[in-house]
Amino acid sequence: MKTSRTAIFASGAGSNAENIIRYCAAHPDCGLTVPVVVCNRPDAGVIERARTLGVPVRVMTRAEINDPAAMLAILEEYSVDSIALAGFLLMIPDFLLERYAGRIINIHPSLLPKFGGKGMYGRHIHEAVVAAGETTTGITIHHVSSECDGGRIIFQASIPLPPGTTPADVETAIHALERTHYPRVLATTLSTQV
Ligand code: GRF
Repeated sequence: MKTSRTAIFASGAGSNAENIIRYCAAHPDCGLTVPVVVCNRPDAGVIERARTLGVPVRVMTRAEINDPAAMLAILEEYSVDSIALAGFLLMIPDFLLERYAGRIINIHPSLLPKFGGKGMYGRHIHEAVVAAGETTTGITIHHVSSECDGGRIIFQASIPLPPGTTPADVETAIHALERTHYPRVLATTLSTQV
């Protein structure tokens, strides 16, 4: 099996980034390795988490991420084959969608197409799910397209929401689901694309 060199793009706490990096270290033959983390927020928790695990982090402004010369130089420096979004809050520019067609994957913490699109991120999603009286929610792992949360779905997993479940409960359960599935789905999907 070939190994995909997968850059993680993240903006926040970085629990998914950490899970993916740890999974790759624990499963050296899984077909995935993380050469670099790209982050657009200088205060994001993911920076410390990744560096502690020995993965370099490049902090880039939105303008740099949207600049083909600046962005592609970094991806070439680390010989990046594919990109995994893990709590990355910016849209992916068209030049990256073209350059990495079929090789950019995101995880969204709801059962898309429900509770996706602009403004649906983080705790807002779980609050909306509970407010709507949903009896299940889950995660969606999908290809990234120019439409926010609109790319082809690769994998979904769901959990029941018993009466009285709070948004904080949902967040905890969703993180466990993400930990179980995202690294494995990334590895099986991206290792066939190298
Ligand atoms: C996760 O719930 C992920 O599904 C979503 O944003 C959140 C990021 O959390 N896209 P973390 O930064 O990985 O802890």
